[in-house]
Amino acid sequence: DNGGTGVGGGRSGALSPSLVTEDFQRIDVNPPKGTRDFPPEDMRLRNWLFHHFREVSRLFGFEEVDYPVLESEALFIRKAGEEIRDQLYCFEDRGNRRVALRPELTPSLARLVIQKGKSLSLPLKWFAIGQCWRYERMTRGRRREHYQWNMDILGVPEVTAEAELMASIVAFFKRIGITESDVGFKVSSRKVLQEVLRCYSVPENLFGKVCIIIDKIEKIPIDEIKRELNATGLSEEAIEELLQVLSIKSLTKLEEILGGAGEAIADLKQLFSLAEKFGYSEWIQFDASVVRGLAYYTGIVFEGFDRDRKLRAICGGGRYDRLLSTFGGDDVPACGFGFGDAVIIELLKEKGLLPELSLEVDNIVCALDHDLQGVAATVATKLRGEGQSVDLVLENKPLKWVFKRAARINAQRLILVGNTEWQKGMVVVKVLSSGEQYEIKLDELE
Ligand code: HAM
Repeated sequence: DNGGTGVGGGRSGALSPSLVTEDFQRIDVNPPKGTRDFPPEDMRLRNWLFHHFREVSRLFGFEEVDYPVLESEALFIRKAGEEIRDQLYCFEDRGNRRVALRPELTPSLARLVIQKGKSLSLPLKWFAIGQCWRYERMTRGRRREHYQWNMDILGVPEVTAEAELMASIVAFFKRIGITESDVGFKVSSRKVLQEVLRCYSVPENLFGKVCIIIDKIEKIPIDEIKRELNATGLSEEAIEELLQVLSIKSLTKLEEILGGAGEAIADLKQLFSLAEKFGYSEWIQFDASVVRGLAYYTGIVFEGFDRDRKLRAICGGGRYDRLLSTFGGDDVPACGFGFGDAVIIELLKEKGLLPELSLEVDNIVCALDHDLQGVAATVATKLRGEGQSVDLVLENKPLKWVFKRAARINAQRLILVGNTEWQKGMVVVKVLSSGEQYEIKLDELE
């Protein structure tokens, strides 16, 4: 083998027969459908990704937070008919409480902000990286659990906040080698829809519901969309106008139709002008069809997409100024985004940009004689005390095995504790890249 000892191989099993109980039952060794294990190579990739999420958040001055994966179900129940509601992993716990695995982080953020109340100083800039659960139909990059990087700004009513959030996503893409020819952002504002609906005197409380229906435009036939809109009380005329506005891809055209006075146009213009100053104009485009599938957005909404159109949305977010009052709190202007860990990995694969990450250990320390295990432990402790990583060989193994293992773990140095040298208080150091070998006293080892 390559310097490791293989485990039972699943079939033969490593337990001796006497340990196997009578009601032995062979388990399915795969994780539940749609979920993942993270063996070391996958964990390295995840850590690499999260490291960049954290670094970007730090560069933008955000503080890290987290919430429980298990929340009360009520936090995620909204009446607008969102897909996320039907995908909820929910159950009753042993104390008869309705609970759910979080499908997203934003409601938990709102809950915590309400709980902390006036003790929080605004604006607050928080980021989180958390596992989310959705009972999805699985496609490429969509699974039943995923990790989401969120950045949210609370307390800023101006689109400077959205512009800042998009700057951070661009900074992230650049760090990992993704350019504006690989991805882009489609940006719109829900206020566009709101202005159209106002023209037709559609009541404000239908707004969320209408957005959710419109978000499904690419997924279900247009006649079905029209039928659903009609069922909420929209006139045929309003529906036609709405669908026409949604097809607009230029801000100038939108201004011609809506007039220049509304908030939608003003917000979008300011955002595009800020994007220029931040230096990411090339990354963003106006597209009125973006409304997003969550009911709580109230203003600017955006989605990151791959320009080859092979994958689902890479990330998405927007402004949600009225979420807190739906939980009985006082509203605070808010915006943020969620960025999943699955689609971006698919994109990196497509582009040949996945990093090569291997285990790297500074030293492998091995006693050549059973009696010298204690000395090897002392050597390991000394090196670790100096901040060096050490893989300590814990059993007596032949040298050939040790060299193979050293190669597998990419050790820089091999330190051998042998009888002859140890009688002089010395150990043998072999630098594995060059083959250079020398003897050194234990207390000179560093
Ligand atoms: P969302 O669009 O539902 O927004 O999800 C955000 C991102 O999470 C998606 O763009 C995608 O990258 C990832 N994602 C969602 N579902 C899955 C899945 N089943 N498998 C893999 N990845 C997935 C939200 O969740 C909002 N709470 C984001 C937000 C934060 N808005 C404001 N602040």
